[in-house]
Amino acid sequence: MTGERRTRATEAFFGRRRGKTLRPAQAQPAGLLLPALKLDLDAPAPAELRSLFAAPVEGVRLEIGFGGGEHLLHEAAAHPDVGFIGVEPFVNGMAKMMTRLDERPLANLRVYDDDATRLLDWLPDACLDGIDLFYPDPWPKKRHWKRRFVNAANLDRFARVMKKGGQFRFASDIDTYVDWTLLACRAHGGFEWQAASAGDWRTPYEGWPGTRYEQKALREGRVPAYLTFIKL
Ligand SMILES: C[S@@+](CC[C@H](N)C(=O)[O-])C[C@H]1O[C@@H](n2cnc3c(N)ncnc32)[C@H](O)[C@@H]1O
Repeated sequence: MTGERRTRATEAFFGRRRGKTLRPAQAQPAGLLLPALKLDLDAPAPAELRSLFAAPVEGVRLEIGFGGGEHLLHEAAAHPDVGFIGVEPFVNGMAKMMTRLDERPLANLRVYDDDATRLLDWLPDACLDGIDLFYPDPWPKKRHWKRRFVNAANLDRFARVMKKGGQFRFASDIDTYVDWTLLACRAHGGFEWQAASAGDWRTPYEGWPGTRYEQKALREGRVPAYLTFIKL
């Protein structure tokens, strides 16, 4: 990485950590709830990941870069028997989700507030039923493509922590990133793209609530693609 010195903790995070100063209504839930829900990566990961959740859960899914948590909260409420781990290093995004969780607590949700690669490396083998990566930072300029979260190293990480048959879902409104991800998964060989019909990557996932970033993309006239890969 020319001209960029990165610590291990930020191998794949190149975005903003903070936005506007948090309002007290956001800062308070973040200050109280986050320490209780945040995973402690200094302790070893439990062999049985389901034990991380207060609720009894049958499987565990991960969402990377959840933004304000619109999709993650919707999904966790819709599937109380599944444990969800959400990762978001952007402080204001995390605070927004904590504010909503304060209003409507969920016993099947845990979070991590730093680079997702650290969490992935902490997780035991074959422990996840799914990984969602929705509208990752697009890095549209060619010289920044190397910053994209989808790359060979991260697909290796996904392949290690996912169960066979688990789903990796990727949505983006940036055509070059969609092509990039299709090519990267094909080159990796550990994932199979599930496209039932020619146009089905234009159809949102079942029960899809949308995300904040997606609304912006749609307002600006960009067309999203919704890819699903199965871990082989
Ligand atoms: C373009 S936003 C999309 C947010 C949300 N998924 C949505 O659709 O509204 C991408 C998000 O990924 C997060 N992100 C970027 N790099 C990350 C990393 N290495 N680990 C976890 N999250 C990351 C950013 O902080 C940002 O909130």
